[in-house]
Amino acid sequence: MSDILLEVENLKTQLPLEEGMLKAVDGVSFTLRRGETMGLVGESGCGKSMTVNSIMRLAPNYAEISGSVRYYPAAGAPVDITALDPYGQEIRAIRGGEISMIFQEPMTSFSPLHTIGNQILEAIRLHRTADKKEAVKIAIDILNRVGMSNPAQRLNEYPHQLSGGMRQRAMIAMALSSEPSLLIADEPTTALDVTVQAQVLQLMRDLQAEFGMSILYITHDLGVIARMVQVVAVMYLGRIVEFTDVDSLFYNPKHPYTSALIQSIPKIGKKSSARLESIRGAVPVPINRPPGCGFYPRCAAAIEGLCNRLDPPLTQIEDHHAAACFVYPEVVAAAEENAAEGVIHAN
Ligand SMILES: Nc1ncnc2c1ncn2[C@@H]1O[C@H](COP(=O)(O)OP(=O)(O)OP(=O)(O)O)[C@@H](O)[C@H]1O
Ligand SMILES: [Mg+2]
Repeated sequence: MSDILLEVENLKTQLPLEEGMLKAVDGVSFTLRRGETMGLVGESGCGKSMTVNSIMRLAPNYAEISGSVRYYPAAGAPVDITALDPYGQEIRAIRGGEISMIFQEPMTSFSPLHTIGNQILEAIRLHRTADKKEAVKIAIDILNRVGMSNPAQRLNEYPHQLSGGMRQRAMIAMALSSEPSLLIADEPTTALDVTVQAQVLQLMRDLQAEFGMSILYITHDLGVIARMVQVVAVMYLGRIVEFTDVDSLFYNPKHPYTSALIQSIPKIGKKSSARLESIRGAVPVPINRPPGCGFYPRCAAAIEGLCNRLDPPLTQIEDHHAAACFVYPEVVAAAEENAAEGVIHAN
């Protein structure tokens, strides 16, 4: 069995809009290992959701997607997800079966017209067992596991009858009911109050330890990242600008954007008015993007004539630590090498 679970290579998702081509995902590459937990972090609009939606073939149908997403099932040959029919049998077997997703708003996962039970049972019967009695047993067990009170009774309730926290738990239960190899969680706790958020995070950690699945956790909240994941990809303007393990991220951040994100974490006893007050300006919309580093207009460390001219490639700087910033000679060297090889980053 391969140690690698998911391999994303130079994924690009472009949206042809009236105003121009919007580069929502602009050359994202990463590898996720079996059982590993990875975070995708960055401000609103940096392309986190579009990245995972593209991986799962859930991007808008007018999106132009290139690159490759290889999924390594426990048995059998790797599957290139980008080559599958987005509405076909194969992707549906992977989605909700081997790879499950949970979202910020549970109502996007649940149909309001059917009971929680019907929807969870459908997932179980589709991916695990055709036997109805056994499916009910599994459903009750998993609802129990996610901390639902009266699980047997919950099966007959409709999504709107549950509180926000309980709906979130029901969604996690549904996502886990297929025993996925990978759980993709897109801001699943942002809509919850702090106490419930802490409970749901703890629950996901427990379930991860128990089931051993990989998690790709998407959030703008570095506090959540610190608690939830082993490795982190920091995104900015559709690209990964830093990639490392969670300790190095906090104690030894390389990219000025990462440092700014860390400085913007509200400190106890210190008033914080804006989420990212320490970063000048806002994330630009990635249409007709000028050449150079996307963070250049907001960067305190920008090098005139370099950062506004060339794209810094994501480059290994230390062991297991890559960054895309020209303050590191390794990145300058990599950019020069790319230029010599004729790799042109068209904008
Ligand atoms: N359906 C769409 N049509 C046009 N533009 C879109 C669409 N969906 C996303 N975008 C744009 O693509 C870029 C990336 O969006 P995405 O939703 O991936 O960001 P995000 O990092 O998930 O943000 P958030 O933290 O707010 O969820 C943004 O500039 C966004 O405005
Ligand atoms: Mg999002």
